[in-house]
Amino acid sequence: MTTLLVIQAHPHTSQSLSLAVGKKFVDTYKATHPDDKVIIRDLYADGGVPPLNDLTMEAWRKQKFGEEMSAEEQALLKRHEEWLNEFINADKYVFINPMYNHFLPAEMKQYLDLTAVAHKTFKYTSQGSVGLLKGKKAIHIQAAGSEYHQGGKWGTIKFLIKKAFGIKSKESSALMDLGDLYLTNMLKFYGVTDVEKLFIEGADAHRDRRDAILDHAMAEAESMAKVF
Ligand SMILES: Cc1cc2nc3c(=O)[nH]c(=O)nc-3n(C[C@H](O)[C@H](O)[C@H](O)COP(=O)(O)O)c2cc1C
Repeated sequence: MTTLLVIQAHPHTSQSLSLAVGKKFVDTYKATHPDDKVIIRDLYADGGVPPLNDLTMEAWRKQKFGEEMSAEEQALLKRHEEWLNEFINADKYVFINPMYNHFLPAEMKQYLDLTAVAHKTFKYTSQGSVGLLKGKKAIHIQAAGSEYHQGGKWGTIKFLIKKAFGIKSKESSALMDLGDLYLTNMLKFYGVTDVEKLFIEGADAHRDRRDAILDHAMAEAESMAKVF
C-alpha cells in the first residue's frame, strides 16, 4: 500500500493560505487515490517534534555506551524512533508551511534534524554521502507574503547581477527563499530528488490580488494532487 505522509508546520492561524491549499491537495489526493494511506503529521500538535536537546544527547550517549537510561530518556528515544520510522516508511511526502523570515518555521527545521540520521536516511561512503530513501517523491507547499519564484531563472540572474554591482533592488529571487532551498537539498541528501513545488506568493505584498492568488493555487493543488 502506498503511504502519503503530510508534514505540516503551521501555527493554525485563521485565513492561512498554505493550510487551505495544503488541504485542497490532500482532499483531492484522497479522492483520487482511494486505496492509499494518508498520515497527517502536524508539527505544532501533540507536544511538537521530539527535540534534539540535552536530554536527547545524554540518552544517545547512554545508548551508545550501553548505559542504563531513565524512563524519561527511554520515552524520548522511543518517540524519536516512531517519528523517524514513519518518515522512512512513507512513499510520498507533502511538506506544508508558511515562510518565516526567508526560511522554514523552526518546527520544520527540527523535523529535518530528527530525520537526518546516518544509516537510516543517508550514509557516508568513500565517495561521499549517499541518500537511502530511493524511489520516493515529495511536494513543497509554501505561502510567502512576497514573491520569490515569479521571475524564474532570469529573475535569479538579474538578482545576482544587481547584487554583484551593489544595485539596490526591490525584487526578490528564489535565492532568498532559503527554506525551500534547504528543504530541497535535505531531501536530495536523503535520496529524494523528485520534489515538486507549489508556491502561494505575493498575497501580502498585493492585497488586492489575494483572492486571485489563492484561487490560482487551489486550482494548481487540485491538478497536481490528481497525478501525484
Ligand atoms: C513571523 C513571520 C515572518 C515572515 N517572514 C516573511 C518573509 O521573510 N518573507 C515573506 O515574503 N513573507 C514573510 N511573512 C509573511 C508570510 O509568509 C505570509 O503571510 C504567508 O501567507 C503566511 O502563510 P499562511 O498564509 O499559510 O499563514 C512572514 C510572516 C510572519 C508571521
